[in-house]
Order: sequence, then structure tokens, then C-alpha cells
Amino acid sequence: MSQLYPVKPNRPHTTVVLAMSADGKIADAHRTPPNFGSQADYNALERQVAAADGVLFGGATLRAGGTAMRVMTPELIAERQQQGKPEQPAQIVGTLSGKLDPDLRFFRQPVPRWLLTVSSGAEAWQASNHFEEILICEADDQSLDWSSALQRLADLKIKRLAVLGGGAIVAALLAHDLIDELHLTVCPLLLGGESAPSPVQGEGFGQDVAPRLELLSSDVQGQEIFLHYRVR
Ligand SMILES: NC(=O)c1ccc[n+]([C@@H]2O[C@H](COP(=O)([O-])OP(=O)(O)OC[C@H]3O[C@@H](n4cnc5c(N)ncnc54)[C@H](OP(=O)(O)O)[C@@H]3O)[C@@H](O)[C@H]2O)c1
Repeated sequence: MSQLYPVKPNRPHTTVVLAMSADGKIADAHRTPPNFGSQADYNALERQVAAADGVLFGGATLRAGGTAMRVMTPELIAERQQQGKPEQPAQIVGTLSGKLDPDLRFFRQPVPRWLLTVSSGAEAWQASNHFEEILICEADDQSLDWSSALQRLADLKIKRLAVLGGGAIVAALLAHDLIDELHLTVCPLLLGGESAPSPVQGEGFGQDVAPRLELLSSDVQGQEIFLHYRVR
């Protein structure tokens, strides 16, 4: 279980959780939904989801996989209930376009669904009951205003946010210094491919200004390495 850090007064504590190949890719170049993690990796991911009040992922990740990662293990659900939490954390989709297929299995999963978007991305969903919450957080340049988005999430009692990718969402949050921890599982395969996504997409950071990490733990289980970092 991850270490506890002081809760930020105006935003949730944020933890990125990703599995990647040994060459640092989180999916293949065809964006096939990743299935290269072991049962131990799945269990670790589920524990992070169970510890969260909200789970954030990008529109591309949802379109690729079609479902949200929800808590399935009865003991973890019971633990949440004992702590007075809802059975499932809020599943929050970050999208600019709002272009999501309403027939995705995600919309039939028994989870609370929230939409985080800009005003144009919300249009198609305002009159529907697909999402319990629609959060519109728009910056002056019509991009998503991540600082105010996280503030809104804190107002909605999201104290711990698990960020399940993909790389574009992680990059956007890192650029605004809004990531606290990362759990990266290094899996024993090589995916390669210039267009295959990595944990941090986008323009990247120059090495002089790149976010620096502190390694909190590394754990070898079977053929995988579980890395836990804190962003300094
Ligand atoms: N191995 C793993 O653990 C893991 C975990 C998660 C995902 N993945 C894989 O990663 C791939 C998706 O990653 P990705 O990096 O392409 O996309 P992503 O981060 O999942 O989603 C990007 C999308 O988020 C929305 N968005 C909102 N604000 C944004 C901003 N400021 N910057 C960029 N995007 C913003 C946009 O949605 P709209 O397009 O809807 O406007 C954008 O297309 C998939 O292949 C998925 O399977 C792997």
C-alpha cells in the first residue's frame, strides 16, 4: 500500500499507475488494449483503485479499452465500505472532444461515471444520464484547465485520485505539477514502435527542467519490477 502524504488543501493527492514494457511503452503501436501485465500487476492496480476516491483516465484510453478498471475483490469492496466510502470510486473520463461511444461497455458498468471536459465536449452529454457529474473546466485557450479541474474534484470530496493514463493525460498533469506519485510496473517484453505511447506523451521535458523523482521502493515479483516513485 502506498505511503500517505499530507493531503493537499486544494486538490486531491494524485497517483499515476501504469504498466509498461521494458522499453517504456504502455501499448503497442496499434494501441491494442494492454494485456501484458501479470496477475500480480492486476492485483497491485486494483489495490490502487480501491484506495482511491476517484480514477482519472483519458478519452483515448477509454476508446481503446471500452471499460473502466473497477474494484472486483470482495475484501477490497468490504474495506471501502468499512471506511464509509462508496463501493466504487468515481470513474472520471478526461476528454476535450467529448467524442465517446455511448454503446461502450463502460456505460453499462456498475460504477459512478463523471465527465471532465470543456464546454464543447460537454454539449452532447448534458441532456443524457450517462454521467452523474459533468465538470466543465476550460482555460482561456479552450484547453482543459487542470488546476481548476483538480480543485473541483477536491470540492467533490475526491481526496485521492488514481491516474490510470494514458500518457497524454499524465503529461498534461505533470506539466502543471499536479502529480505526486507514480507506480510503474516494468513488464518483460519489448514493444518498440515510434508511435507506441509511453507513460508521458506530448512534447516531453528538456532534461534541465524534467520532473525529478525519488525512488520510494522497487520490488521484483516474478518477471516484473514494481517501481514506486514520488515526484520531488
Ligand atoms: N499500460 C497501461 O497501463 C496503460 C494505461 C492506460 C492507457 N494505456 C494505453 O495508452 C493509450 C492511450 O494513451 P494516450 O496517451 O494516447 O491518450 P490518453 O491520455 O488516454 O487520452 C488522451 C485524450 O485525453 C483527452 N485530453 C484532455 N485534455 C488533454 C490534454 N491537455 N492533453 C491531451 N489530451 C487531453 C483527449 O481526449 P479526446 O480525444 O476525447 O478529446 C485526448 O485525446 C491507449 O492505447 C491505452 O490502451 C495503457
